[in-house]
Amino acid sequence: AIHRFPLIDVQGVPLMSTIAEYWKSISEFCPDPSDLLISTYPKAGTTWTQEIVDLLQHNGDAEVCKRAPTAVRIPFLEICAPPPIPSGLDLLKQMKPPRVIKTHLPIQLVPKGFWENKCKVIYMARNAKDNLVSYFHFDRMNFTQPEPGPWDGYIHKFMKGQLGWGSWYDHVKGYWKERKERNILYILYEDMKENPFREIKRIMHYLDLSVSEEIIERIVQLSSFQVMKDNPMANYSYIPKPVFDQSISAFMRKGEVGDWVNHFTLAQSQMFDEDYANQMKDVDIPFRFSI
Ligand code: PPS
Repeated sequence: AIHRFPLIDVQGVPLMSTIAEYWKSISEFCPDPSDLLISTYPKAGTTWTQEIVDLLQHNGDAEVCKRAPTAVRIPFLEICAPPPIPSGLDLLKQMKPPRVIKTHLPIQLVPKGFWENKCKVIYMARNAKDNLVSYFHFDRMNFTQPEPGPWDGYIHKFMKGQLGWGSWYDHVKGYWKERKERNILYILYEDMKENPFREIKRIMHYLDLSVSEEIIERIVQLSSFQVMKDNPMANYSYIPKPVFDQSISAFMRKGEVGDWVNHFTLAQSQMFDEDYANQMKDVDIPFRFSI
C-alpha cells in the first residue's frame, strides 16, 4: 500500500524516510568521470532539462528520446520509493557510463565521487515563488510526499526549509557559490523560458556537442511545455494512481513564469519578499519573478 513517507533529517536536510534509510549506499555511489549530473531543487525544471539533454545527446531524434520514461532514461539518484517508481541506484547499476543522472540533493550531500571525478553538472534554478507554487501542487498529487496542508502554512514551511530536500535558499546558493570552482553550468528556468534556443546552445557547448541550428530549433519544439505534456515518456503518466494522482494536479501543470501571482495574497507576498531579501543577501543570483 502507498503512504506518504515522513521526512527524516539527514545531516540537517529533511529527506523522504526511504532515502534516509538507504543514505549510506546513496552517499557511496561512485559515478564514472563521463557521467553527467542534472541537479535541481524539486520542481525547478528538472524534467525539462532532462528532456533537452537527452535530445541534444541524440541529435534531436524524437523517437529515440521516447525509448523509455524520463526516470528510466535518466535515473533519479537518491529515489527509493515503492514500484512503479524505479529505485535510482538499481537502475544505475544496470546502465553503462556515460550516464545522465538526476538529483535533488543540495551540493553538500552530492556523493563525493562526482567532484573527485570532475563530472559535469548542470544546475537549473527557478524563482522561489513559482518554485514554491509548483511544489505545493506536486505535494497534493504525489502520495509519497508529506501532505502539503493549507497554502499559508506551506509558504512558511518553504521559508523555513522544512519541505523535502530542505531549504530552497541553501540549495540555490550552495550551487551558485561553487559554480566556477566546480565547473557547474548554472541555468535559470526563466532564461530558458525566455529564450530556449540560446539556453539550449549553452548546454550544447557545455557538453562539447555540436548540433546544427536546425536541430536546435527542433529541440526547442520537442522540449516545449505542450509537446512534453502530450508525451507519455515525459509527462509521468507511467506513474499512475495511487502514487501520482494527476487528476488532482497534472505533473505538467502550467509551465509558466509568474503563476505565483495567482496564489500569493499581497500580504503573503510582502512577508515572503522581506524574508527573501534577508535569506538571499549574500548572493546576487539574477532571479526574475516575471518575464
Ligand atoms: S520534479 O518532480 O522535481 O522532477 O519536477 P520538475 O520537472 O523539476 O518540475 C516540474 C515543473 O516544471 C514544469 N515543466 C516545464 N515548464 C516549461 N517547459 C517545459 N517543457 C516543462 N516541463 C516541465 C512543470 O510544468 C512544473 O511546473 P508547474 O509550474 O507546476 O507547471
